[in-house]
Amino acid sequence: MSKQSFFMTNQRISADDKRIINNGRTVDCNQLVPIKYRWAWNFYLDGCANHWMPTEISMQRDIEQWKNPDAFTDDERHVIKRVLGFFATAETLVGNNLVLAVYRCVDNPECRQYLLRQAFEEAIHVHAFQYIVQSLSLDEGEMFNMYREVEAIYDKDEHAMSCTSSILDMNIEDLKTTKGLQTFIKNCVGLYVITEGIFFYGGFVTMLSFGRQNRIPGTVEQIQYILRDESIHMNFGIELINAIVDENPKIWTDEFKAEIDTFIKSAVTLEKAYIKECLPNGILGLNCDLIEEYVQYLADRRLEKLRLSAFYGSKNPFPWMSEIIDLKKEKNFFETRVTEYQTGGALEW
Ligand SMILES: [Fe+2]
Ligand SMILES: [Fe+2]
Repeated sequence: MSKQSFFMTNQRISADDKRIINNGRTVDCNQLVPIKYRWAWNFYLDGCANHWMPTEISMQRDIEQWKNPDAFTDDERHVIKRVLGFFATAETLVGNNLVLAVYRCVDNPECRQYLLRQAFEEAIHVHAFQYIVQSLSLDEGEMFNMYREVEAIYDKDEHAMSCTSSILDMNIEDLKTTKGLQTFIKNCVGLYVITEGIFFYGGFVTMLSFGRQNRIPGTVEQIQYILRDESIHMNFGIELINAIVDENPKIWTDEFKAEIDTFIKSAVTLEKAYIKECLPNGILGLNCDLIEEYVQYLADRRLEKLRLSAFYGSKNPFPWMSEIIDLKKEKNFFETRVTEYQTGGALEW
């Protein structure tokens, strides 16, 4: 990067001058106002409005149920551990990508404001899984090393991390080239569409199925908050990707679209392998076929949002998931918690 890019000019910034990427100064004061990308600011406000902390949620009933040898079958305990083990390190993987790769490349201040909020939410999600593992007295070594020791999880993480490392290998000046921008877009698809939009959903649907039977309710409530956050993360990411493509239409070649299409389909294959590992036998009315159908249905929706063609033609076998995700319909859903944040008046210096 040329040294010149570290020096400010004395000209005022107008909203029209702003771009998502390649604003010319990676290190800057990040002048938020005038805001051009109102959607990015609104995602930030939505994220703040959804604030929560893992320790607000009681884990007492989960602890009692988990200790009861008759409360879960072996298959049920297996899938719960596989889901928690995947999430326990996937959240830090996402946080790394955000902070090391995405924040570095996206130099628009409105988007960076949201990225800072998202990074904090990823820290909260990491905290949530640490809190669940600790509450249930699960084997920490087993849970936090599962990504190394279970092949289906290792493969998903490798798929996700390959994108981050390609950004780190890149010089920031490369973002001015078609190849560099395509590399960055592929990373964003890997993070926002695949990891947060596909790899998380086998786990989400499984855990929420326990919730529908009033089992491990504290864990399920944490997952519901995470699902709410993640659907905002993914929607922000898709807006971001489409905005970069709109500002740089020449990167969206047929060849690159085919590469993204193949990338998403390869993720669906990995998610199916993970589901088979989690659910070798059916539980709670769930089986591999149904969840695979669901993952294909989600992949089609993600492809369409990226303005690509749906491929699988699968139906949604879990319409109740849509109701949970569309939280505007669930007005009373998140009103059960007691919130006592330390306010300014309560601070003692
Ligand atoms: Fe997360
Ligand atoms: Fe996320």
